[in-house]
Amino acid sequence: MSPTKEQIDQFLAKQRKLPKHIAIIMDGNGRWAQQKGLPRERGHEAGAETLDKIVTISAKLGLEYLTLYAFSTENWGRPQTEVDALMHLLVETIKCQLPNMMSNNIRLLAIGDIDRLPKESKESLLAAIEETSHNNGLNLTLALSYSSRWEITKAVKEIVKEVRKGNISEEMITEEMISNHLCTTNTPDPDLLIRTGGEQRISNYLLWQVAYAELYFTPTYWPDFDEQALMLAIDDYSNRERRYGLTGEQITTGIH
Ligand code: IPE
Ligand code: IPE
Ligand code: MG
Repeated sequence: MSPTKEQIDQFLAKQRKLPKHIAIIMDGNGRWAQQKGLPRERGHEAGAETLDKIVTISAKLGLEYLTLYAFSTENWGRPQTEVDALMHLLVETIKCQLPNMMSNNIRLLAIGDIDRLPKESKESLLAAIEETSHNNGLNLTLALSYSSRWEITKAVKEIVKEVRKGNISEEMITEEMISNHLCTTNTPDPDLLIRTGGEQRISNYLLWQVAYAELYFTPTYWPDFDEQALMLAIDDYSNRERRYGLTGEQITTGIH
């Protein structure tokens, strides 16, 4: 059940720290459906309902960035019927979500090789990005036709081109410059990476950006993930000590 405003305020008040950016690998739709004797596509439909819940609660919790892995480069290799169903669902979900995004001040963004999407999916995505572009609450990024190795390869090519043209020298290449050539420019790195569905792997998601993210794996299939489950993950995050290579003492005293 969706928590009340009072419950949300109570929850926020007791957190020691809050993540600014949560990234989620929304996994387990297919197994959720198969377990119920349903076709995998039904799992994706149920997953779209979870997406709705999680986006809404994230906005209510005051989260600044939510980045959802919706479709990977490797997912193009799935059976064509499943790919088609997912692309169709994308259009439907965006249409359904648009009023919610407007009323909750959510700005939609996308990362990935968007040009590979079918025309209709790409158009509805770009239209929603445009329509929500003036919203300044939650930044909701959908990773679509996305893979981290694709993104890093693209960045390397762009930087090499700049060097070749003589615009920059090899010595000028910094971590910051590389970050700025990734699709996630202007987005802070995720603080918390959640993967549902029981697998404990990254599957080509935000490899560069999650260098110091806290990882949270849950066996819950994505369609069963809900507001309480997200709050539990945030609560877990809030009790972790992020050390970034330093000692615990350096972190607690702030002397380094
Ligand atoms: C995640 O659920 C959704 C996408 C990858 C598009 P899956 O479809 O991977 O579900 P499982 O992992 O097979 O259960
Ligand atoms: C990762 O899930 C991609 C998305 C959630 C969109 P997969 O189901 O594709 O990942 P693997 O194949 O189990 O690693
Ligand atoms: Mg999967």
